[in-house]
Amino acid sequence: MEAKKAAAELAIDAIQDGMIVGLGTGSTAYWAIQGIGARVQNGLRIQAVATSVVSENLAKELGIPLIPFADISEIDVTIDGADEVDQAWHLIKGGGGALLREKIVAYSSKKLIIVVDESKIVQRLGAFPLPVEVVKFGYELTVNKLRALGCEPKVRVSEGNPYVTDNGNYIVDCHFKSISNPAELHQAINGIPGVVENGLFIGMASQVIVGYKNGSVVRPA
Ligand code: A5P
Repeated sequence: MEAKKAAAELAIDAIQDGMIVGLGTGSTAYWAIQGIGARVQNGLRIQAVATSVVSENLAKELGIPLIPFADISEIDVTIDGADEVDQAWHLIKGGGGALLREKIVAYSSKKLIIVVDESKIVQRLGAFPLPVEVVKFGYELTVNKLRALGCEPKVRVSEGNPYVTDNGNYIVDCHFKSISNPAELHQAINGIPGVVENGLFIGMASQVIVGYKNGSVVRPA
């Protein structure tokens, strides 16, 4: 917890008055939202958009003003977590099931700051099963096509039923073990009808902040 909190607390220094801020999802983004909430209580004037219902509810509890997407064209800075970060800052995200909203928000963000603990840094992506959001219709066929790309796919389950995202879709966790060409795989997965989006974030991170157990934080260049 200390490592995640330390990374998140450094990241929120990037937030200034007047900004539109993207709120990520997960246990590291949680600390960023808490920190932003505290700064708002102390007078910071920002407006925010959230990447999940959970983060939206947390923002409301903390008094962080939310702005409708219809009223903005871009987000100044988004702070979000990740499940894996490789040496080129390509990411696997979606362990918390919010990858679609996270990618929509990240794609319209001028700056995407990724906050992680040291366990997320990898040489090569793929040990963490890649989450893929798929529509419910015919998902069994979609799963077959994902398997044909060389992974072991598992429909995510929650309390005995398929896990349903904030968007009403399923998540298939695709265990590739090792992903040699993330950009190519990203294209191949999103080319399958039934796939809504996958958790590979290629070249989207502007900055990565890594927290360590002893509370120290590193910003790899
Ligand atoms: C949510 O869907 C994810 O993309 C999270 O950002 C990711 O799983 C990291 O979560 P933690 O910060 O909880 O490890």
